[in-house]
Amino acid sequence: TWTTGNVIEEQVAAIRAQVGAKRAICGLSGGVDSAVAAALVQKAIGSQLTCVYVDHGLMRKGETEQVEKDFVAATGVQLKVVDAQERFLNALAGVSDPEEKRKIIGREFIRVFEQAQAEIIAEAEHGEDVAFLVQGTLYPDVVESGGGTGTANIKSHHNVGGLPEDLEFELVEPLRQLFKDEVRMVGQELGLPDEIVQRQPFPGPGLGIRIVGEVTRERLDLLREADAIAREELTVAGLDRDIWQCPVVLLADVRSVGVQGDGRTYGHPIVLRPVSSEDAMTADWTRMPYEVLAKISTRITNEVADVNRVVLDVTSKPPGTIEWE
Ligand code: XMP
Repeated sequence: TWTTGNVIEEQVAAIRAQVGAKRAICGLSGGVDSAVAAALVQKAIGSQLTCVYVDHGLMRKGETEQVEKDFVAATGVQLKVVDAQERFLNALAGVSDPEEKRKIIGREFIRVFEQAQAEIIAEAEHGEDVAFLVQGTLYPDVVESGGGTGTANIKSHHNVGGLPEDLEFELVEPLRQLFKDEVRMVGQELGLPDEIVQRQPFPGPGLGIRIVGEVTRERLDLLREADAIAREELTVAGLDRDIWQCPVVLLADVRSVGVQGDGRTYGHPIVLRPVSSEDAMTADWTRMPYEVLAKISTRITNEVADVNRVVLDVTSKPPGTIEWE
């Protein structure tokens, strides 16, 4: 019979058999899948695993700390954090086109991650033992990609001496038989914090694609504050389970006139995009209580400097996508 206990036991045995006395690397994104995959592998092989977290500066308030502190406390995992905020900001400077932003963020992410992998290999006593890469592939991903499994061949452009031209890793994918809700149950059983296990979907490029316009540090800070307020109020209102996700978007290239205190303001609008969905392929805008919207709007315009207007996106998908970029 299927129980989370059985799944964990089976996977721990399988991981031990696969990795043996060698070493593995796992990239953490802050999302559920990579966290649960890492926790399972950690349970199986302990200190033979090193996790890598690339801090690209595009996460929401508190999310990096959740990985650095709470996830490490819950699992005891060895974690290498790479602070790449400056690098991502520089790469994104002057770029407003959504596809261009995605490309840049993806490219920089791979480079920083590979550099970290190379450093882990260089620092290991037997670098050649670092032979496995953990991935949080789920069953739906397996089906979609035709069921293949195998290796990740990584072209090297790292400036670390003494490494082979290409790094080849064998994949460890302990979630290949699981659906999302099962992954959450396994994560819970492994003692991971609720904030990670129950987290709603969040795009890899993060807040970088929720700023319509150029991404700058100031705009990221502003959006992070507005997003934190919206998330807090949705949680207080008990709406986390009803809402699939609620992107909060900064229209950085738009300004409108407002009035606050004794003066005229000329600030930016924030868009709330609460959606209901089964699988993100289609979605509808969530008919959420006006009182909650009012609370979020009042707080954001009072507490976030330079934001003088909050608007609600009432578009279904299609024709609108969930994200704005
Ligand atoms: P759209 O905007 O296409 O989003 O309706 C559908 C779902 O996918 C998420 N999303 C992403 N997730 N990397 C990700 O990991 C991405 O580049 C990305 N873009 C969109 C989005 O949050 C929604 O859940």
